[in-house]
Amino acid sequence: MTLDEILAEATTAMNVVTTIPDLEQAKARFLGKTGSLTEQLKAMAKLPPEEKKAAGAAINVVKTQVEVLINGAKARILDAELQAKLAAESIDVTLPGRRIGSGGLHPVTRTQERIEALFASMGFSVADGPEIEDDYFNFQALNTPENHPARSMQDTFYIEGSKNLLRTQTSPVQIRHMQSHKPPIRIICPGRVYRCDHDATHSPMFHQVEGLWVEEGISLADLKGTLTQFLNAFFERDDMQIRFRPSYFPFVEPGVEVDMEWGKVKDSKGGKIKWLEIGGAGVVHPQVLRNGGIDPEKYSGFAFGMGLDRLAMLKYGVNDLRLFFENDLKFLSQFR
Ligand code: FA5
Repeated sequence: MTLDEILAEATTAMNVVTTIPDLEQAKARFLGKTGSLTEQLKAMAKLPPEEKKAAGAAINVVKTQVEVLINGAKARILDAELQAKLAAESIDVTLPGRRIGSGGLHPVTRTQERIEALFASMGFSVADGPEIEDDYFNFQALNTPENHPARSMQDTFYIEGSKNLLRTQTSPVQIRHMQSHKPPIRIICPGRVYRCDHDATHSPMFHQVEGLWVEEGISLADLKGTLTQFLNAFFERDDMQIRFRPSYFPFVEPGVEVDMEWGKVKDSKGGKIKWLEIGGAGVVHPQVLRNGGIDPEKYSGFAFGMGLDRLAMLKYGVNDLRLFFENDLKFLSQFR
């Protein structure tokens, strides 16, 4: 191959290479151990001394030209690679950013806060009690000894090997509070309770709010007045339909069940009220006052226990209680 042919071939080769490995291979064809220019240099050894100088100079000129071609091709390839990388990694600044969603209080928490505020305005303070409760406080001190039929109304999670259970109601806080405070007592106790229940209006974990007012001369009339006032304020209506039905709880006498309007059902007269039970209540039984260390001859009181989640259902128009506890953000974000 002549030097001109080598240069022509190198020019063509360097024009078509597109990757660095291809370039290295092409380079070896000219400058490698057995490359065409290297062969030319080796062949110089056989030339007569007077020709060597001119031949060497001519080879070096072509070698320099080939190196320039190689460097040019290398710069072109690296530049193309850089442009491709930039294009692949480019940021479209017109795209909308990722939003950080804002959280909100759970509807049951909102309901609890609202209940606390309304009762605080009526002079009630907030008391608390344990969720893992002693059988004595949850049942016995509330006139519900072992084997009492009323226990079967509260399907209980007992803790194996102990006298403890998951409290089925917030009523044990009545006893705990009376034992550590003197009348007048005016408290509410919102909190979690547990029963082996599961349907659209019953959940195995739910919330109740207990109320207790013990003072001289407190009667069923005070209970009715307090609950009516609270429910009207809670639902921001003054025409709220509330129903008190005689009922039985071992720790009150007399006892009532409180129902609230929950829509209407059609009948022949054009519609009648559909009721949802929201709580039990009554005048505190004298023995329960005694168990709390309070003299029933001097003091009397009323107590109530409302389903807090039921109030949340009515307030927000939710027809399945279980939705509150499924952690579905589509549902919960409506209350933000
Ligand atoms: C009681 O738990 C009594 N401790 C209430 C009471 C307190 C009566 C003080 C008298 C004096 P009851 O089992 O009816 O009563 O429950 C009270 C309310 O809790 C019910 O009216 C209902 O609104 C709610 N409730 C009961 N079980 C469930 C459940 N599994 N899921 C959701 N709410 C429930």
